[in-house]
Order: sequence, then C-alpha cells, then structure tokens
Amino acid sequence: MKRFLKPSDIGDLSQALKEAAEVKNNPYGHQHLGKNKTIVLIFFNSSLRTRLSTQKAATNLGMNVIVLDINKDGWQLETEFGVVMDGDKPEHIREAVPVIGQYCDIIAVRSFAKFENKEEDYSENILNQFIEFSGRPVISMESATRHPLQSFADLVTIEEHRSVARPKVVLTWAPHPKALPQAVPNSFVEWMKEADVDLTVTHPEGYELAPEFMEGVKVEYDQKKAFEGADFIYAKSWASFSEYGKVLSTDRNWTVDEEKMALTNNAKFMHCLPVRRNMIVSDGVIDSPNSIVIQEAANRVVSAQTVLKRMLESL
Ligand code: CP
Repeated sequence: MKRFLKPSDIGDLSQALKEAAEVKNNPYGHQHLGKNKTIVLIFFNSSLRTRLSTQKAATNLGMNVIVLDINKDGWQLETEFGVVMDGDKPEHIREAVPVIGQYCDIIAVRSFAKFENKEEDYSENILNQFIEFSGRPVISMESATRHPLQSFADLVTIEEHRSVARPKVVLTWAPHPKALPQAVPNSFVEWMKEADVDLTVTHPEGYELAPEFMEGVKVEYDQKKAFEGADFIYAKSWASFSEYGKVLSTDRNWTVDEEKMALTNNAKFMHCLPVRRNMIVSDGVIDSPNSIVIQEAANRVVSAQTVLKRMLESL
C-alpha cells in the first residue's frame, strides 16, 4: 500500500475489518515488520488522539517514530510556488518534503483546511506535495478533505457494537462556535457508503457536504425524523461548503440530547473528539452507557496499526 487516504486504498473492507480484529487481539504479533524502519509523523495542526494513537501503533509494530510539529520544531515552510521568498518563511516545502523522505520509510501528515480558498483546500496541495515528492508511502492523519484513520476506527467501532446485521447509522451536524473542516464528515460518509450500513445524513439547510462525497446518500433535514430507529448517532460539526468556511448557525436545537436519543433504537453515541459538551452533545448523552466515544478513540490505535502493518508488508 503506497498511500492511505480513502477506503479504496485499503481494498475490501470486510477483509480490513478482519485484519483489524486480529491486530487488536494480538497487538505485538508483528514487531518484526517494523525493525529498523522509521516513520515520521508531521503535524501542521494540533492533535491529541492522532498523535498518540499513531505513535503507539507504530511502536507496537517495532518501528522508530519521529514526531515533528512543523510549526514549532521546523523552519516555517513556504507552500506557494513562484513566490520571491523575502518574507518570514526560510524553507520551501519543495525541498523540505524530499529531505524528510531521506530520513524515514513511511510519512504520515496532518494538514487541515485553511478555509481561505475552497479550490485550494479541496486540491489537497500540501498532502499532494508529500505524495509526489517524498518518495515514501504517505498516510493522511487528516487532510483538508478527509480523515481516513478516524473513519476506519469508526467503522471498526460500529462493527464491534452493532446488534443488527445492517445498522441504521445517522451522521448529524451539531452546533459549534467555530468553523470546523469537513474532513471528518466527508470521510465518514465515504467509508459508510462502502460499508454494510444504512446511512442517513442530517443537517440544517446550507450545510450540504461536497457533492463528490454525497452522491447517492440520503439527506433528511428534519433531525428528529432522521434519528427515528437509528442504531448509531454520529455527531459532528462542520462549516458550510457552499458558503465556504462560514458558520451559518449555532442553533442549539441541533445539540444531541436525551430527548432525541429516545427516538432511536437505543442508539450508541459516537463522536471523533475533541467534543464541546452541551454544544454538540448534552452531558447526559455523552456520559450515558450508550456513549462509545472512548472505545472509538481507543480504536484509533487499531486503525493506524492495521494500515501501518499493510504498508510495512509492502515496502
Ligand atoms: N479525532 C482526532 O483526530 O483527534 P485529534 O485531533 O486530537 O487527533
């Protein structure tokens, strides 16, 4: 596997889920694969779960791990091409990326949407620099448009907690004071479309996700109607795609609370975290036995380790 950005990169999802279960049952069974192999984790943005879980996954596989918070630990990188570099950025990404590639066997990158320009964000210009010029396999640790390690962990979590063969999974928009990227909901939709689930997306008008992700997906603008009979409620806030990067609503009528959860089929509550309590979800729901957010976060090690194992096997 040369890159991990979307479900097609990992192939058959039922096989991937089987492998993930094996990795979870025997986390130290493949330490030989990572011997004398190095991964560099590059963060252009903050992280708690992705940083720790990917580091743990690589360590479980016997790898050496280098973590670089590029904004603090490296030179400020110029990412525009054709510019006269007479400002405060002393290094160009065009040199930095192939240099990083000299020091490792696999590169993982986190680079969020900047919300300055939709086309630029959706072109994934930073991530693509790593794919094109590092000479190494590349894993997305959340890019401008996708968060595949999160979605794979979400799928593992749904597989572990489903009580029916084809669960109803509802992705609901929820209010947040800040503009958040569409990477998590885009990826979640992309992965759920490939999985054996019945997916519904619910959000206020104006929060439609990019058409390239939403083709063939059910949208229900009435959140309460969407929740009826659901087996999993996946909450997430995201900024508008059509009015790119704007917060159009902070309506707390969209907060996931006990009254709405009562409409479901005793649904499990999921969120990728970090989560703003009593904006996205009430204390009562996230603290309830049906909340599986911690198990979901734990499965970030499983998704990262399954992906890394595949990459190491194909080096
Ligand atoms: N869910 C997630 O990616 O968490 P972090 O931003 O803390 O890595």
